[in-house]
Amino acid sequence: MIRLNRRRFLRSSAAGASLLLAAPAIGRAGISANEKLGVAIVGVNGRGSEHISEFLKDDRTEIRVIVDVDEAVANRRCDDIAMKQGTRPTPVADMRQAFENSDVDLVSTATPNHWHALTGIWAMQAGKDAYIEKPVCHNVYEGTALIAAARKYGRMCQVGTQCRSSQAIIDAIAFMRSGGIGEVRLARGLCYKRRRSIGARGDYAIPATVNFDLWSGPATMTDPRCTRPNFHYDWHWQRHYGNGDLGNQGPHQTDIARWGLGIDAHPSRILSYGGRLGYQAERKDAAYIDAGDTANTEVSIYDYGDKCIVFETRGLSVDDSDDTELNTLFRSKSGNKVGVVFYGTEGFVVQDSYQHCYVYDKDMNVVKEFNGGGNHFGNFVSACQSRRVEDLNADVREGHLSAAVSHLGNISFYLGEQNRLSVEDLSAALSKFASPDDNQATLQRTVQHLKKNGVETDRDFLSLGALLEFDPDREVFTNNDQANPWLTREYRAPYICPKAGEV
Ligand SMILES: NC(=O)c1ccc[n+]([C@@H]2O[C@H](COP(=O)([O-])OP(=O)(O)OC[C@H]3O[C@@H](n4cnc5c(N)ncnc54)[C@H](O)[C@@H]3O)[C@@H](O)[C@H]2O)c1
Repeated sequence: MIRLNRRRFLRSSAAGASLLLAAPAIGRAGISANEKLGVAIVGVNGRGSEHISEFLKDDRTEIRVIVDVDEAVANRRCDDIAMKQGTRPTPVADMRQAFENSDVDLVSTATPNHWHALTGIWAMQAGKDAYIEKPVCHNVYEGTALIAAARKYGRMCQVGTQCRSSQAIIDAIAFMRSGGIGEVRLARGLCYKRRRSIGARGDYAIPATVNFDLWSGPATMTDPRCTRPNFHYDWHWQRHYGNGDLGNQGPHQTDIARWGLGIDAHPSRILSYGGRLGYQAERKDAAYIDAGDTANTEVSIYDYGDKCIVFETRGLSVDDSDDTELNTLFRSKSGNKVGVVFYGTEGFVVQDSYQHCYVYDKDMNVVKEFNGGGNHFGNFVSACQSRRVEDLNADVREGHLSAAVSHLGNISFYLGEQNRLSVEDLSAALSKFASPDDNQATLQRTVQHLKKNGVETDRDFLSLGALLEFDPDREVFTNNDQANPWLTREYRAPYICPKAGEV
């Protein structure tokens, strides 16, 4: 399928799916309009507990199965749901049991990223609708396969980019796209979010309550041990399972940036630089090796022809920042800054929280504000009832394009990881990559930030990623053969994520 014009294929298949599915107002065959939709929630430690709260609030649904490979987590959640819902869901460790269960209509998943696509594909093949956390996939081809599965099996597939249902952001983007800040060609996504070291790389026991074979799933299970001290959550910073903050917080902001700029495709050129830096200085131990292997400092530039997205990740302290313009736009010199800045010829739109946006004029005066959240899970349930793909606020295709922003940026970074340069050499390299952003200013701000965190910038320290050219329709890199294998992964049987043409 990737040899076809993807955009045309996906649009026509989305339209086809909604036509096919427009008639029945119900999901499961034979279910009456008054009957509750049965929900299975997969992965319920952190974010999954919020999935539980959201479905408990919705009168149209009942949580019937809880899937977690950590039996302690599964049982704890089932006990809690029993108290709130009045009925106790069945706890299971293997998601395939939930998919075989005819009382389950919807599957909602918050597993680690390396499981997202396969969970969604298996669920949809079994006739369930799927809500899948961001990033919707761990690599680019998994996203394409998810779209193919949703269309082939006629299922609703919503991505957990809940800002798509946030009224503040919907209104701010409508304002901007109707010309509210003039012409807009550049969006800067920020994930300035403190991430401390996850501890020394080592040999740690897997918790006794965890089925590690199922947890590893599609990823290689080389050793029944763990290389990070904290088993849950910290996998985000190990590329085998997670995608760093560019692929963790990032997909919220890359999605808003793409949506706001009206970009409906992949970028055609990508360049990243960065590193996993500063923890040695923080620990005052030059030999310290943190267990993570994703960048904690990363700048990625995406060229979409006449438009550009820049995404900046900063995991070290962002307190007392020298970023004058960003400090003004985010109304704070200290603390985390997570959001998107749109640069228009007549002003700026700033998304500074999931429920709030500012509009500034060119002189940096606030001229408008947008407030209000939304109900992203409710939107999913409504679409499962209406059977109309276009009712979804975050259809899987949007999730795929936005997750791919993260994946493409990380591929550039990983390919250049050993290419550590001085600031001068990095600056010279960036001067050859034209973009609507001031690449040099962004680099200098990044260097200042690192200096403040004790990183020795007089030594070679930042890595320059590969400058990648990408064919947005065929989804292949055209200038770097080493890059193409990163669009997928080696799967471990039987947890093999099919390609789009094989779903
Ligand atoms: N939309 C948001 O705002 C938001 C916020 C936080 C996290 N997330 C996403 O939620 C996902 C989970 O993140 P987290 O922080 O909760 O991680 P976590 O490690 O705390 O929880 C993951 C849970 O999934 C379980 N699990 C792993 N493999 C499984 C499998 N095959 N079947 C069933 N259960 C399995 C683990 O045992 C664990 O209980 C991530 O993809 C993350 O990006 C989204």
